[in-house]
Amino acid sequence: MDSMTSPATQATRGPVTRKDVARYAGVSTAVVSYVVNGGPKKVAPATEAKVQDAIRVLGYRPNAAARALKLGSSETLGLVVPDISNPFFSLFSHAVEDAAAELGYALVLSNSDGNLAKERRNIRNLAARQVDGVLLASVLFEPDLEVLETADIPSVLLNQERDAPGFNSIGVDLAAGARMAVEHLISHGHTNIGLAMGTNVSGNTDGREVGWREALQDAGLPEGPIVYHPFTRPGGYLAGQRLLASVNRPTAIFATSDMQAIGLLRAVHEAGLSIPGEIAVASFDGSAESEYSWPPLTTVEQPVAVMAEAAVAALVGASRGEKPQHRIFPTKLHIRQSCGCP
Ligand code: RIB
Repeated sequence: MDSMTSPATQATRGPVTRKDVARYAGVSTAVVSYVVNGGPKKVAPATEAKVQDAIRVLGYRPNAAARALKLGSSETLGLVVPDISNPFFSLFSHAVEDAAAELGYALVLSNSDGNLAKERRNIRNLAARQVDGVLLASVLFEPDLEVLETADIPSVLLNQERDAPGFNSIGVDLAAGARMAVEHLISHGHTNIGLAMGTNVSGNTDGREVGWREALQDAGLPEGPIVYHPFTRPGGYLAGQRLLASVNRPTAIFATSDMQAIGLLRAVHEAGLSIPGEIAVASFDGSAESEYSWPPLTTVEQPVAVMAEAAVAALVGASRGEKPQHRIFPTKLHIRQSCGCP
C-alpha cells in the first residue's frame, strides 16, 4: 500500500488526480481516461472494474473543464430537439447519444418545447458551454440559420427535408414516405382519405402534405378533408374529432406522426367507430408507440439510428473542415393492422 494513495493521505494532498487513480488501479492514465470517458478505446471488464474501484475508494472526480482547456475540446456535443416528449425525438436523442459515445463524445440535450425563442437560447447556451458541435432539430420546418451562424459552431440540421446551403443536414424524403402510406390506404379501396397534418410555428408546408396530395392525384381521387393541429397527442385527438365531424367524413386518415395518431385513435374509439373497419389509419415515424397502440399502427418508419450515426459523423467531419452535405434517407412502410391488413 506504500506506493498507493489512501483516502486518508489524499485529504492532506489536495484533489485526487487521474495519476492517483492509475497508480491505485495499477493501469496507465490513458486507461483511466478510456474508462472515465467511455472510450475511444475499449477496456477489458476486469480492468474497468479495477479502475472504477479506485475511483470510488479515492473519491476521484474528473475535471471536465480542465480537460477541455488542455485538449481544446470539451468532447461534448449539444442536441436541441423541439419536443422530447415526442417518442420520435426520444428515440432520436438516444440514438444520437449512442453514436456520439462511439466516437468518445458526451451529449448535452436541450428541449425547445416547440418555442423558437427557447430554441435560440438553447443554441447560444450550448455554444457558451463550448460544446464541440450542435445537432439541431428545429421547431421550424426551415430552421433559423442565423443563430447558428452567429454562434459560429459546427452544426448539423436534423429532421431536415430541404437542403440548407452551407450547412450539414440530415432528413428523410417526407413526401415519398407519405405517398407510400396513402397509396397503401388506396390499395385497400379507400377513395376518401383525410389528412391530420402536424403544424409548427412557421406554418410552412411539410412534405407529408405534398405526398398525400400527390398520391391522391395520381390515383385520380379527390382531396379528402385536411385539418391542421400540432404534432402532439392532443393535436391528433382534436384532428380526429374534426375529421370525423366533417360533412364529407373520410373512411381513412393519414396522420403525419405516430404521436398524433395515438390521439386520433382515441377520438375514433370515443366516436364509437371501429378501426380499421369504419376508419382506417396510417401514420409516420415508426416509434415504439405505433407497435403497442390498439390496433397497432401501420406507419412509415424513419431510420433513426442510421441518421443519428450520419449526423454525428457529419459533425465531427465539419470540425475537421469537411464540406457540408445534405443527406436524405429512405423510409420504410411497416404494415400492421390499423390500415385494414390482417
Ligand atoms: O417535429 C414533429 C415531427 O416531425 C416528428 O414527429 C417527426 O415526424 C418529425 O419528422
